[in-house]
Amino acid sequence: MSTRELLIQATYLVASVLFILGLRSLTSPPTARRGMQQAALGMLLAIVGTLLHQQIVDFRFILLGLVLGSLIGYPLGVFVPMTAMPQRIAISHMFGALAATLVGITEFYDAANGLRVAHARMAALGFEVLFGALTVTGSFIAFGKLQELLPGRPVTFRGQNAVNGLLFAVTVALFAWLVVHPATPGAFYLMAGLSLVVGVSLVLPIGGADMPVVLSLLNSYAGLASSATGFAIGNNVLVIAGALDGASGFILSVVMSKAMNRSFANVLFGAFGAPAEGAKKLAEGQTVRSVTAEDAAIQLAWARKVIVVPGYGMAVAQAQHQVRELADLVEKNGGEVLYAIHPVAGRMPGHMNVLLAEANVPYDRLKDMDEINDQFREADVALVIGANDVVNPAARNDRGSPIYGMPILNVEDAKSVIVLKRSMNPGFAGIENELFFSPRTSMLFGDAKASLTKLIAEIKQQA
Ligand code: TAP
Repeated sequence: MSTRELLIQATYLVASVLFILGLRSLTSPPTARRGMQQAALGMLLAIVGTLLHQQIVDFRFILLGLVLGSLIGYPLGVFVPMTAMPQRIAISHMFGALAATLVGITEFYDAANGLRVAHARMAALGFEVLFGALTVTGSFIAFGKLQELLPGRPVTFRGQNAVNGLLFAVTVALFAWLVVHPATPGAFYLMAGLSLVVGVSLVLPIGGADMPVVLSLLNSYAGLASSATGFAIGNNVLVIAGALDGASGFILSVVMSKAMNRSFANVLFGAFGAPAEGAKKLAEGQTVRSVTAEDAAIQLAWARKVIVVPGYGMAVAQAQHQVRELADLVEKNGGEVLYAIHPVAGRMPGHMNVLLAEANVPYDRLKDMDEINDQFREADVALVIGANDVVNPAARNDRGSPIYGMPILNVEDAKSVIVLKRSMNPGFAGIENELFFSPRTSMLFGDAKASLTKLIAEIKQQA
Protein backbone atom coordinates (compact mmCIF):
# COMPACT_ATOMS: atom_id res chain seq x y z
CA MET A 1 0.00 0.00 0.00
CA SER A 2 1.46 3.38 -1.01
CA THR A 3 1.76 6.21 1.50
CA ARG A 4 -1.02 8.06 -0.30
CA GLU A 5 -3.33 5.03 -0.11
CA LEU A 6 -2.48 4.64 3.58
CA LEU A 7 -3.31 8.29 4.19
CA ILE A 8 -6.64 7.95 2.35
CA GLN A 9 -7.65 4.87 4.36
CA ALA A 10 -6.60 6.55 7.64
CA THR A 11 -8.69 9.61 6.75
CA TYR A 12 -11.66 7.35 5.97
CA LEU A 13 -11.26 5.52 9.26
CA VAL A 14 -11.24 8.74 11.29
CA ALA A 15 -14.21 10.04 9.26
CA SER A 16 -16.17 6.84 9.97
CA VAL A 17 -15.43 7.04 13.70
CA LEU A 18 -16.59 10.67 13.69
CA PHE A 19 -19.86 9.67 11.96
CA ILE A 20 -20.53 7.06 14.64
CA LEU A 21 -19.67 9.48 17.47
CA GLY A 22 -21.85 12.11 15.80
CA LEU A 23 -24.84 9.76 15.69
CA ARG A 24 -24.25 8.85 19.32
CA SER A 25 -24.17 12.52 20.37
CA LEU A 26 -27.33 13.21 18.38
CA THR A 27 -29.32 10.90 20.64
CA SER A 28 -29.62 13.53 23.36
CA PRO A 29 -30.52 17.23 23.05
CA PRO A 30 -27.64 18.60 25.20
CA THR A 31 -25.02 16.87 23.01
CA ALA A 32 -26.85 17.16 19.67
CA ARG A 33 -25.01 20.29 18.51
CA ARG A 34 -21.68 18.58 19.16
CA GLY A 35 -22.96 15.58 17.21
CA MET A 36 -23.63 17.74 14.17
CA GLN A 37 -20.13 19.20 14.39
CA GLN A 38 -18.54 15.76 14.70
CA ALA A 39 -20.48 14.47 11.70
CA ALA A 40 -19.64 17.59 9.65
CA LEU A 41 -15.94 17.20 10.46
CA GLY A 42 -16.20 13.53 9.46
CA MET A 43 -17.74 14.54 6.15
CA LEU A 44 -14.97 17.07 5.54
CA LEU A 45 -12.34 14.36 6.12
CA ALA A 46 -14.21 11.95 3.84
CA ILE A 47 -14.19 14.58 1.07
CA VAL A 48 -10.49 15.33 1.58
CA GLY A 49 -9.70 11.59 1.47
CA THR A 50 -11.70 11.19 -1.73
CA LEU A 51 -9.95 14.14 -3.35
CA LEU A 52 -6.60 12.45 -2.68
CA HIS A 53 -7.57 9.55 -4.95
CA GLN A 54 -5.36 9.08 -7.96
CA GLN A 55 -8.28 7.98 -10.09
CA ILE A 56 -9.35 11.62 -10.31
CA VAL A 57 -7.95 12.81 -13.61
CA ASP A 58 -9.46 16.27 -13.75
CA PHE A 59 -10.36 18.44 -10.77
CA ARG A 60 -12.26 21.01 -12.85
CA PHE A 61 -15.53 19.05 -12.83
CA ILE A 62 -15.23 18.52 -9.10
CA LEU A 63 -14.73 22.25 -8.61
CA LEU A 64 -17.73 22.95 -10.82
CA GLY A 65 -19.80 20.50 -8.78
CA LEU A 66 -18.63 22.12 -5.55
CA VAL A 67 -19.58 25.62 -6.73
CA LEU A 68 -22.93 24.47 -8.13
CA GLY A 69 -23.74 22.42 -5.02
CA SER A 70 -22.87 25.33 -2.73
CA LEU A 71 -24.92 27.73 -4.81
CA ILE A 72 -27.97 25.49 -4.44
CA GLY A 73 -27.30 24.18 -0.93
CA TYR A 74 -26.55 27.43 0.87
CA PRO A 75 -29.86 29.19 0.09
CA LEU A 76 -31.69 25.92 0.81
CA GLY A 77 -30.10 25.79 4.25
CA VAL A 78 -30.59 29.47 5.05
CA PHE A 79 -33.96 30.33 3.53
CA VAL A 80 -36.10 27.19 3.70
CA PRO A 81 -38.28 27.60 6.80
CA MET A 82 -38.39 24.93 9.50
CA THR A 83 -42.00 24.20 8.53
CA ALA A 84 -40.85 23.11 5.06
CA MET A 85 -38.03 20.91 6.37
CA PRO A 86 -39.68 17.55 5.48
CA GLN A 87 -39.95 18.57 1.81
CA ARG A 88 -36.37 19.77 1.87
CA ILE A 89 -35.23 16.47 3.35
CA ALA A 90 -37.18 14.59 0.66
CA ILE A 91 -35.37 16.58 -2.04
CA SER A 92 -31.99 15.95 -0.37
CA HIS A 93 -32.69 12.22 -0.42
CA MET A 94 -33.60 12.51 -4.06
CA PHE A 95 -30.26 14.13 -4.89
CA GLY A 96 -28.29 11.61 -2.80
CA ALA A 97 -30.04 8.68 -4.47
CA LEU A 98 -29.63 10.27 -7.90
CA ALA A 99 -25.88 10.50 -7.31
CA ALA A 100 -25.71 6.82 -6.30
CA THR A 101 -27.81 5.76 -9.31
CA LEU A 102 -25.71 7.76 -11.77
CA VAL A 103 -22.48 6.36 -10.33
CA GLY A 104 -23.92 2.84 -10.70
CA ILE A 105 -24.98 3.41 -14.31
CA THR A 106 -21.60 4.99 -15.19
CA GLU A 107 -19.69 2.10 -13.60
CA PHE A 108 -21.74 -0.41 -15.58
CA TYR A 109 -21.36 1.53 -18.83
CA ASP A 110 -17.64 2.01 -18.23
CA ALA A 111 -17.10 -1.71 -17.78
CA ALA A 112 -18.11 -2.32 -21.43
CA ASN A 113 -21.80 -2.45 -20.48
CA GLY A 114 -21.34 -5.16 -17.90
CA LEU A 115 -18.87 -7.29 -19.89
CA ARG A 116 -16.08 -6.68 -17.40
CA VAL A 117 -18.24 -6.83 -14.27
CA ALA A 118 -17.76 -9.80 -11.94
CA HIS A 119 -20.86 -11.38 -10.38
CA ALA A 120 -20.27 -10.02 -6.86
CA ARG A 121 -19.67 -6.51 -8.19
CA MET A 122 -22.79 -6.78 -10.32
CA ALA A 123 -24.77 -7.61 -7.18
CA ALA A 124 -23.55 -4.36 -5.58
CA LEU A 125 -24.12 -2.32 -8.77
CA GLY A 126 -27.58 -3.76 -9.34
CA PHE A 127 -28.63 -3.15 -5.74
CA GLU A 128 -27.30 0.40 -5.92
CA VAL A 129 -29.21 1.22 -9.11
CA LEU A 130 -32.41 -0.56 -8.05
CA PHE A 131 -32.68 1.11 -4.64
CA GLY A 132 -31.15 4.36 -5.87
CA ALA A 133 -33.61 4.78 -8.74
CA LEU A 134 -36.71 3.93 -6.72
CA THR A 135 -35.58 6.36 -4.02
CA VAL A 136 -35.15 9.13 -6.63
CA THR A 137 -38.74 8.99 -7.84
CA GLY A 138 -40.18 7.95 -4.46
CA SER A 139 -38.58 10.98 -2.79
CA PHE A 140 -39.76 13.22 -5.58
CA ILE A 141 -43.36 12.07 -5.14
CA ALA A 142 -43.01 12.50 -1.34
CA PHE A 143 -41.72 16.04 -1.98
CA GLY A 144 -44.71 16.75 -4.25
CA LYS A 145 -47.16 15.51 -1.64
CA LEU A 146 -45.59 17.42 1.24
CA GLN A 147 -45.33 20.61 -0.84
CA GLU A 148 -48.97 20.06 -1.85
CA LEU A 149 -48.09 19.99 -5.54
CA LEU A 150 -49.69 16.53 -5.58
CA PRO A 151 -52.77 15.41 -3.63
CA GLY A 152 -51.77 14.46 -0.07
CA ARG A 153 -54.40 11.73 0.02
CA PRO A 154 -53.54 8.22 -1.17
CA VAL A 155 -53.83 7.82 -4.94
CA THR A 156 -55.25 4.34 -5.34
CA PHE A 157 -56.91 2.08 -7.89
CA ARG A 158 -58.35 -1.40 -7.80
CA GLY A 159 -55.70 -4.11 -7.73
CA GLN A 160 -52.94 -1.62 -6.99
CA ASN A 161 -51.11 -3.80 -4.49
CA ALA A 162 -51.05 -6.68 -6.98
CA VAL A 163 -49.75 -4.43 -9.78
CA ASN A 164 -47.11 -2.93 -7.49
CA GLY A 165 -46.09 -6.37 -6.27
CA LEU A 166 -45.75 -7.63 -9.84
CA LEU A 167 -43.71 -4.58 -10.89
CA PHE A 168 -41.37 -5.04 -7.96
CA ALA A 169 -41.08 -8.80 -8.57
CA VAL A 170 -40.12 -8.23 -12.25
CA THR A 171 -37.52 -5.62 -11.20
CA VAL A 172 -36.00 -7.97 -8.61
CA ALA A 173 -36.03 -10.84 -11.14
CA LEU A 174 -34.07 -8.65 -13.59
CA PHE A 175 -31.62 -7.88 -10.81
CA ALA A 176 -31.17 -11.59 -10.05
CA TRP A 177 -30.72 -12.30 -13.78
CA LEU A 178 -28.03 -9.62 -13.98
CA VAL A 179 -26.06 -11.08 -11.09
CA VAL A 180 -25.82 -14.33 -13.05
CA HIS A 181 -25.43 -12.70 -16.50
CA PRO A 182 -23.83 -9.27 -15.97
CA ALA A 183 -23.25 -8.62 -19.67
CA THR A 184 -26.93 -7.98 -20.49
CA PRO A 185 -27.25 -4.22 -20.87
CA GLY A 186 -30.91 -4.53 -21.93
CA ALA A 187 -31.81 -6.11 -18.59
CA PHE A 188 -29.73 -3.53 -16.70
CA TYR A 189 -31.34 -0.47 -18.26
CA LEU A 190 -34.81 -2.02 -18.07
CA MET A 191 -34.25 -2.69 -14.37
CA ALA A 192 -33.17 0.94 -13.86
CA GLY A 193 -36.27 2.21 -15.71
CA LEU A 194 -38.64 -0.11 -13.85
CA SER A 195 -37.11 0.91 -10.51
CA LEU A 196 -38.04 4.51 -11.31
CA VAL A 197 -41.64 3.40 -11.89
CA VAL A 198 -41.62 1.32 -8.69
CA GLY A 199 -40.60 4.46 -6.71
CA VAL A 200 -43.65 6.32 -8.03
CA SER A 201 -46.07 3.45 -7.54
CA LEU A 202 -44.71 2.81 -4.04
CA VAL A 203 -45.29 6.33 -2.68
CA LEU A 204 -48.40 7.46 -4.61
CA PRO A 205 -50.81 5.27 -2.62
CA ILE A 206 -49.41 6.40 0.72
CA GLY A 207 -51.33 9.17 2.44
CA GLY A 208 -49.84 12.39 3.73
CA ALA A 209 -50.17 11.36 7.36
CA ASP A 210 -47.76 8.48 6.77
CA MET A 211 -45.18 10.62 4.98
CA PRO A 212 -42.82 10.84 8.01
CA VAL A 213 -42.41 7.06 8.04
CA VAL A 214 -42.03 6.98 4.25
CA LEU A 215 -39.38 9.69 4.36
CA SER A 216 -37.24 7.89 6.87
CA LEU A 217 -37.70 4.66 4.94
CA LEU A 218 -36.53 6.42 1.76
CA ASN A 219 -33.64 7.79 3.80
CA SER A 220 -32.80 4.22 4.68
CA TYR A 221 -32.97 3.16 0.99
CA ALA A 222 -30.72 6.06 -0.06
CA GLY A 223 -28.22 4.95 2.61
CA LEU A 224 -28.31 1.33 1.44
CA ALA A 225 -27.83 2.44 -2.18
CA SER A 226 -24.80 4.53 -1.13
CA SER A 227 -23.38 1.61 0.82
CA ALA A 228 -23.72 -0.58 -2.26
CA THR A 229 -21.97 2.17 -4.26
CA GLY A 230 -19.11 1.91 -1.75
CA PHE A 231 -18.83 -1.83 -2.46
CA ALA A 232 -19.05 -1.30 -6.20
CA ILE A 233 -16.30 1.32 -6.37
CA GLY A 234 -14.24 0.01 -3.44
CA ASN A 235 -14.74 3.04 -1.19
CA ASN A 236 -14.74 2.10 2.51
CA VAL A 237 -16.09 5.34 3.93
CA LEU A 238 -19.08 5.16 1.59
CA VAL A 239 -19.77 1.58 2.70
CA ILE A 240 -19.76 2.63 6.37
CA ALA A 241 -21.58 5.97 6.01
CA GLY A 242 -24.22 4.36 3.76
CA ALA A 243 -24.74 1.50 6.20
CA LEU A 244 -25.10 3.95 9.12
CA ASP A 245 -27.61 5.98 7.12
CA GLY A 246 -29.50 2.85 6.08
CA ALA A 247 -29.65 1.44 9.60
CA SER A 248 -30.55 4.71 11.35
CA GLY A 249 -33.24 5.50 8.77
CA PHE A 250 -34.71 2.04 9.27
CA ILE A 251 -34.67 2.33 13.06
CA LEU A 252 -36.33 5.77 12.85
CA SER A 253 -39.04 4.32 10.60
CA VAL A 254 -39.71 1.57 13.14
CA VAL A 255 -39.79 4.04 16.04
CA MET A 256 -42.20 6.32 14.16
CA SER A 257 -44.44 3.45 13.06
CA LYS A 258 -44.60 2.40 16.70
CA ALA A 259 -45.44 5.96 17.77
CA MET A 260 -48.30 5.96 15.29
CA ASN A 261 -49.26 2.40 16.27
CA ARG A 262 -48.92 1.20 12.70
CA SER A 263 -47.08 -1.72 11.19
CA PHE A 264 -44.72 -1.22 8.25
CA ALA A 265 -46.92 -3.34 6.03
CA ASN A 266 -49.87 -1.18 6.99
CA VAL A 267 -47.98 2.00 6.17
CA LEU A 268 -46.81 0.68 2.81
CA PHE A 269 -49.97 -1.03 1.68
CA GLY A 270 -52.76 0.34 3.84
CA ALA A 271 -53.44 3.61 1.96
CA PHE A 272 -53.54 5.39 5.32
CA GLY A 273 -54.47 9.05 5.27
CA ALA A 274 -57.36 8.39 2.90
CA PRO A 275 -60.30 10.74 3.25
CA ALA A 276 -61.94 9.60 6.42
CA GLU A 277 -64.96 7.98 4.87
CA GLY A 278 -65.55 5.80 7.90
CA ALA A 279 -64.73 8.55 10.39
CA LYS A 280 -67.47 9.68 12.70
CA LYS A 281 -68.93 13.02 11.67
CA LEU A 282 -69.38 15.24 14.67
CA ALA A 283 -73.00 16.04 15.33
CA GLU A 284 -74.35 19.09 13.54
CA GLY A 285 -74.96 21.99 15.86
CA GLN A 286 -72.28 20.99 18.36
CA THR A 287 -70.78 24.18 19.60
CA VAL A 288 -67.36 25.19 20.77
CA ARG A 289 -66.67 27.50 23.65
CA SER A 290 -64.36 30.34 22.77
CA VAL A 291 -62.51 32.25 25.45
CA THR A 292 -60.94 35.69 25.62
CA ALA A 293 -57.24 36.14 26.31
CA GLU A 294 -58.22 37.85 29.56
CA ASP A 295 -60.17 34.83 30.88
CA ALA A 296 -57.56 32.35 29.68
CA ALA A 297 -54.85 34.40 31.40
CA ILE A 298 -56.72 34.22 34.71
CA GLN A 299 -56.79 30.41 34.51
CA LEU A 300 -53.09 30.29 33.67
CA ALA A 301 -52.08 32.76 36.34
CA TRP A 302 -53.72 30.63 39.06
CA ALA A 303 -52.72 27.25 37.71
CA ARG A 304 -50.47 25.02 39.87
CA LYS A 305 -49.64 22.71 37.02
CA VAL A 306 -49.71 23.55 33.32
CA ILE A 307 -48.88 21.09 30.56
CA VAL A 308 -48.01 22.74 27.26
CA VAL A 309 -48.80 20.66 24.18
CA PRO A 310 -47.01 22.12 21.19
CA GLY A 311 -47.90 21.13 17.63
CA TYR A 312 -47.39 22.13 14.04
CA GLY A 313 -49.20 25.47 14.56
CA MET A 314 -46.52 26.58 17.04
CA ALA A 315 -43.94 26.03 14.30
CA VAL A 316 -46.02 27.94 11.74
CA ALA A 317 -46.48 30.86 14.13
CA GLN A 318 -42.85 30.64 15.31
CA ALA A 319 -44.27 31.11 18.78
CA GLN A 320 -41.65 29.16 20.76
CA HIS A 321 -40.12 32.25 22.42
CA GLN A 322 -43.55 33.47 23.59
CA VAL A 323 -44.26 29.96 24.93
CA ARG A 324 -41.11 30.19 27.03
CA GLU A 325 -41.98 33.69 28.24
CA LEU A 326 -45.47 32.58 29.27
CA ALA A 327 -44.05 29.54 31.09
CA ASP A 328 -41.64 31.79 32.99
CA LEU A 329 -44.57 33.91 34.18
CA VAL A 330 -46.57 30.86 35.32
CA GLU A 331 -43.52 29.60 37.18
CA LYS A 332 -42.99 33.00 38.75
CA ASN A 333 -46.53 32.70 40.10
CA GLY A 334 -45.57 29.37 41.70
CA GLY A 335 -46.93 27.06 39.01
CA GLU A 336 -45.13 24.14 37.38
CA VAL A 337 -44.87 23.95 33.59
CA LEU A 338 -44.10 20.78 31.64
CA TYR A 339 -44.11 20.17 27.89
CA ALA A 340 -45.77 17.10 26.38
CA ILE A 341 -43.91 16.04 23.26
CA HIS A 342 -45.68 13.71 20.86
CA PRO A 343 -43.24 11.81 18.62
CA VAL A 344 -44.96 12.96 15.39
CA ALA A 345 -46.03 16.46 16.47
CA GLY A 346 -45.11 19.01 13.81
CA ARG A 347 -43.73 17.87 10.51
CA MET A 348 -40.46 16.11 11.25
CA PRO A 349 -39.00 13.96 14.00
CA GLY A 350 -37.85 16.12 16.89
CA HIS A 351 -39.52 19.23 15.40
CA MET A 352 -40.90 20.45 18.74
CA ASN A 353 -37.67 19.64 20.63
CA VAL A 354 -35.64 21.73 18.19
CA LEU A 355 -37.96 24.73 18.40
CA LEU A 356 -38.23 24.66 22.19
CA ALA A 357 -34.46 24.22 22.52
CA GLU A 358 -34.06 27.33 20.36
CA ALA A 359 -36.14 29.21 22.97
CA ASN A 360 -33.91 27.77 25.74
CA VAL A 361 -36.64 25.72 27.36
CA PRO A 362 -34.78 23.43 29.80
CA TYR A 363 -34.54 19.89 28.39
CA ASP A 364 -35.75 18.29 31.59
CA ARG A 365 -39.17 19.95 31.17
CA LEU A 366 -39.75 18.20 27.85
CA LYS A 367 -41.57 14.95 28.53
CA ASP A 368 -42.17 12.07 26.15
CA MET A 369 -45.69 10.79 25.68
CA ASP A 370 -45.26 7.75 27.95
CA GLU A 371 -43.81 9.88 30.70
CA ILE A 372 -46.43 12.65 30.64
CA ASN A 373 -49.69 10.92 29.73
CA ASP A 374 -50.59 9.98 33.31
CA GLN A 375 -49.82 13.48 34.54
CA PHE A 376 -52.59 15.21 32.58
CA ARG A 377 -55.04 14.15 35.29
CA GLU A 378 -53.21 16.39 37.78
CA ALA A 379 -52.88 19.33 35.38
CA ASP A 380 -55.00 22.42 36.01
CA VAL A 381 -54.55 23.52 32.42
CA ALA A 382 -53.46 21.70 29.27
CA LEU A 383 -52.39 24.47 26.92
CA VAL A 384 -52.60 23.15 23.35
CA ILE A 385 -50.60 25.35 21.00
CA GLY A 386 -51.33 24.59 17.36
CA ALA A 387 -51.61 20.84 17.93
CA ASN A 388 -54.54 18.93 16.52
CA ASP A 389 -54.08 15.31 15.32
CA VAL A 390 -51.80 14.39 18.21
CA VAL A 391 -54.56 15.29 20.71
CA ASN A 392 -57.52 13.92 18.76
CA PRO A 393 -59.51 11.42 20.88
CA ALA A 394 -60.81 9.85 17.64
CA ALA A 395 -57.52 7.93 17.62
CA ARG A 396 -58.88 6.11 20.64
CA ASN A 397 -62.64 6.14 20.19
CA ASP A 398 -63.44 6.06 16.51
CA ARG A 399 -62.64 2.81 14.69
CA GLY A 400 -63.47 4.41 11.35
CA SER A 401 -60.97 7.22 11.77
CA PRO A 402 -57.78 7.16 9.70
CA ILE A 403 -55.80 7.89 12.85
CA TYR A 404 -57.48 5.13 14.87
CA GLY A 405 -54.87 3.34 16.96
CA MET A 406 -52.32 6.16 16.94
CA PRO A 407 -51.27 6.82 20.55
CA ILE A 408 -52.25 10.37 21.50
CA LEU A 409 -51.64 12.75 24.39
CA ASN A 410 -54.30 12.44 27.11
CA VAL A 411 -55.14 16.14 26.98
CA GLU A 412 -58.83 15.62 27.69
CA ASP A 413 -57.92 14.29 31.19
CA ALA A 414 -56.75 17.74 32.30
CA LYS A 415 -59.08 19.80 34.51
CA SER A 416 -59.26 22.42 31.80
CA VAL A 417 -58.01 22.62 28.21
CA ILE A 418 -57.15 25.82 26.35
CA VAL A 419 -56.57 25.44 22.62
CA LEU A 420 -54.74 28.09 20.60
CA LYS A 421 -55.47 27.93 16.87
CA ARG A 422 -56.78 30.22 14.18
CA SER A 423 -59.99 28.49 13.14
CA MET A 424 -61.83 25.17 13.25
CA ASN A 425 -59.74 23.88 10.34
CA PRO A 426 -58.52 20.32 10.70
CA GLY A 427 -54.90 19.28 11.09
CA PHE A 428 -52.72 17.18 8.83
CA ALA A 429 -54.99 14.10 8.76
CA GLY A 430 -57.91 16.29 7.64
CA ILE A 431 -60.39 15.18 10.28
CA GLU A 432 -62.54 16.87 12.89
CA ASN A 433 -61.46 16.88 16.51
CA GLU A 434 -63.93 16.05 19.25
CA LEU A 435 -61.65 17.58 21.87
CA PHE A 436 -62.54 21.08 20.66
CA PHE A 437 -66.21 20.42 21.46
CA SER A 438 -65.61 19.05 24.94
CA PRO A 439 -67.16 21.03 27.83
CA ARG A 440 -63.68 21.24 29.42
CA THR A 441 -62.18 22.89 26.35
CA SER A 442 -61.98 26.61 25.59
CA MET A 443 -60.76 27.84 22.23
CA LEU A 444 -58.59 30.93 22.01
CA PHE A 445 -58.80 31.73 18.30
CA GLY A 446 -56.00 33.55 16.52
CA ASP A 447 -52.41 33.14 15.42
CA ALA A 448 -50.57 31.35 18.24
CA LYS A 449 -47.86 33.99 18.56
CA ALA A 450 -50.39 36.84 18.70
CA SER A 451 -52.55 34.95 21.25
CA LEU A 452 -49.56 34.15 23.44
CA THR A 453 -48.42 37.77 23.32
CA LYS A 454 -51.89 38.81 24.54
CA LEU A 455 -51.83 36.16 27.28
CA ILE A 456 -48.43 37.35 28.46
CA ALA A 457 -49.59 40.96 28.59
CA GLU A 458 -52.73 39.97 30.53
CA ILE A 459 -50.84 37.87 33.08
CA LYS A 460 -48.35 40.69 33.61
CA GLN A 461 -51.21 43.09 34.16
CA GLN A 462 -52.84 40.79 36.70
CA ALA A 463 -49.63 40.30 38.65
P1 TAP B 1 -51.69 19.17 12.94
O1 TAP B 1 -52.61 18.05 13.23
O2 TAP B 1 -51.15 19.30 11.57
O3 TAP B 1 -52.49 20.50 13.31
C1 TAP B 1 -51.87 21.73 13.32
C2 TAP B 1 -52.89 22.78 13.72
O4 TAP B 1 -52.18 24.00 13.87
C3 TAP B 1 -53.96 23.01 12.66
O5 TAP B 1 -55.19 22.48 13.09
C4 TAP B 1 -54.00 24.53 12.47
O6 TAP B 1 -55.31 25.00 12.71
C5 TAP B 1 -53.05 25.05 13.56
N1 TAP B 1 -52.25 26.20 13.10
C6 TAP B 1 -51.62 26.34 11.92
N2 TAP B 1 -51.02 27.54 11.89
C7 TAP B 1 -51.27 28.15 13.07
C8 TAP B 1 -50.91 29.40 13.62
N3 TAP B 1 -50.18 30.30 12.95
N4 TAP B 1 -51.33 29.68 14.88
C9 TAP B 1 -52.10 28.81 15.56
N5 TAP B 1 -52.45 27.62 15.09
C10 TAP B 1 -52.05 27.29 13.84
O7 TAP B 1 -50.46 19.20 13.94
P2 TAP B 1 -49.98 18.16 15.05
O8 TAP B 1 -51.03 17.96 16.08
O9 TAP B 1 -48.64 18.64 15.44
O10 TAP B 1 -49.87 16.78 14.29
C11 TAP B 1 -48.88 16.49 13.34
C12 TAP B 1 -49.50 15.80 12.14
O11 TAP B 1 -48.56 15.88 11.07
C13 TAP B 1 -49.77 14.33 12.38
O12 TAP B 1 -50.90 13.92 11.64
C14 TAP B 1 -48.50 13.67 11.81
O13 TAP B 1 -48.71 12.33 11.42
C15 TAP B 1 -48.24 14.57 10.62
N6 TAP B 1 -46.85 14.61 10.18
C16 TAP B 1 -45.86 14.53 11.11
C17 TAP B 1 -44.56 14.56 10.71
C18 TAP B 1 -43.53 14.41 11.80
S1 TAP B 1 -42.31 13.43 11.62
N7 TAP B 1 -43.65 15.07 12.91
C19 TAP B 1 -44.22 14.74 9.36
C20 TAP B 1 -45.26 14.87 8.42
C21 TAP B 1 -46.58 14.79 8.86
P3 TAP B 1 -55.79 26.43 12.12
O14 TAP B 1 -55.54 26.38 10.66
O15 TAP B 1 -57.22 26.50 12.50
O16 TAP B 1 -54.97 27.46 12.80
